[in-house]
Amino acid sequence: METSSAYHDSLDPTNLGNFKNKLNLPGRDGLLGFLEATADPVELAVRRERVQLAPGKETEMLTYRAERDGRVWLNPTFLVKTGAGFSASLTNELDEDTTIHWHGLHLDWRMDGHPLRAVRPGAGYRYAYSVANRGGTYWYHTHGHGNTARQVYMGLAGLFIVEDENERRVNEALGVKLGKTDLPLIIQDKNLDGEGKLVYEPDEMAWSMGYTGNVILVNMTPTPVLEVGTRLYRLRLLNGSNARLYRLAFEKVGGGELLPYRVIAADGSLLARPHLVWEVFLSPGERVDLLLDLRGFEVGEELALTNVAFDPMHREHEMGENMGHGGHAPHGGMAQAEEMYASAPRLGDGQEFYILRMVVKDRLTQDGAVPEALSVVSPADTRGAAVRPVTLSATTEAGQTRWLINGLTYEPDEFPIVVQRGAKEIWEIRNDERSMPHPMHLHGFRFRVFEKRNSPGQVADTAVDKKGRTATDLGWKDTVLVWPGETVRIAIEFSHDFEGEQLSLFHCHILEHEDAGMMINYKVVDPHG
Ligand code: C2O
Ligand code: CU
Ligand code: CU
Repeated sequence: METSSAYHDSLDPTNLGNFKNKLNLPGRDGLLGFLEATADPVELAVRRERVQLAPGKETEMLTYRAERDGRVWLNPTFLVKTGAGFSASLTNELDEDTTIHWHGLHLDWRMDGHPLRAVRPGAGYRYAYSVANRGGTYWYHTHGHGNTARQVYMGLAGLFIVEDENERRVNEALGVKLGKTDLPLIIQDKNLDGEGKLVYEPDEMAWSMGYTGNVILVNMTPTPVLEVGTRLYRLRLLNGSNARLYRLAFEKVGGGELLPYRVIAADGSLLARPHLVWEVFLSPGERVDLLLDLRGFEVGEELALTNVAFDPMHREHEMGENMGHGGHAPHGGMAQAEEMYASAPRLGDGQEFYILRMVVKDRLTQDGAVPEALSVVSPADTRGAAVRPVTLSATTEAGQTRWLINGLTYEPDEFPIVVQRGAKEIWEIRNDERSMPHPMHLHGFRFRVFEKRNSPGQVADTAVDKKGRTATDLGWKDTVLVWPGETVRIAIEFSHDFEGEQLSLFHCHILEHEDAGMMINYKVVDPHG
């Protein structure tokens, strides 16, 4: 029998030799399988399932389970078209509340899994809406009040891929096909004990810093490997981690040098044109679509998607409290599971490790080429926009750090921000110097990143314009990372065709922060008269 420490050593992501598990790619059904939306509602049961993530061990996780014509999907990758209807009937088979939030979609709040619309154990909910968004890579996940972090960590998340004319045209020009050479990759970090069980035991430190894991999974495969050919690939990356931030780069194995790649989309939107980069930051909740050109590779060569080292900027240390990271002794007796993974290497924030190994297997020819223009991204229209200051800061009471938005923590019945239907606003989000990076996410409405000020060097160095924006800030966004000391101005237009007031959310997508109250309600009201 494999000892637990041998099992852990075999999953250590700092050792590329460990990347031997065949990457799970969405197929016709099964885990993350493609599920095309039709006029009939999809029945989605939220329940526990045992899944084999890596050979030899089974893992119990929480899943959205769909069944149709005798086929079964777990956390299906939905395929939908702009302008088409979508409908899903949720049944909650857990013994706790849950919901589905459709991250990045422009929806009536009643359809968007707001905690006020939590689904009780044994109950159901019908989500039905038409898809208004541009084509792009979106996702869905649970949003139970105070319970998002654990439920997402245990598995309740999946992709929602929207196609429109533009997307079709771009993929055709590129000569890529979804599922074959256009590949969705969900990056997550988790802790697995020696038996392959998912461990989620956030201590006080994790509630303030976010819960990170020692194992890197892509599409739920730990330490994965993917066989590729000498051609162009589109990769749709989602950071579905609870708290971990990645600085993504591709590295030729043996050569050491980083490979350039092209960013073509950010969150739910193709950019105006491809941008050549060597690295991007991807924070929890964000997506980036990129083009990887392997035409210059030889069969037998290898490359790796890597998290390159960066400064995680945990500047909250400077609060004077005893907030040190490593060396933190758990209070009281160690839980058994904690003991089991205590021997595993700790993957620090900003530490270098591998995410995916790619082995070039086939010599391929292809016709496609990279188009010069991808889509029309009109500049943010900020005429007449009111500026709303938003501050991110911390408070420490009795040794517990909690993160605040405009000095507030979440109150289910309070709506600290009220905007008029149709209003244009600039939210000027300023993160305290004594803070950590917070990925801020807006429900219901997309936004443009308008300007970034006082960005740290590791971000400013990759800016592509005078407004301090990087390649991944250039499309329509729903989540933006705000570093300590940084000010990010986003432009939002609150127009919609839904009925009545919209009750929505703005929060940090580090899920432990969200659950601990780094979230506020906002309301879109109808002008009087
Ligand atoms: Cu993906 Cu409220 O978030
Ligand atoms: Cu969301
Ligand atoms: Cu946060």
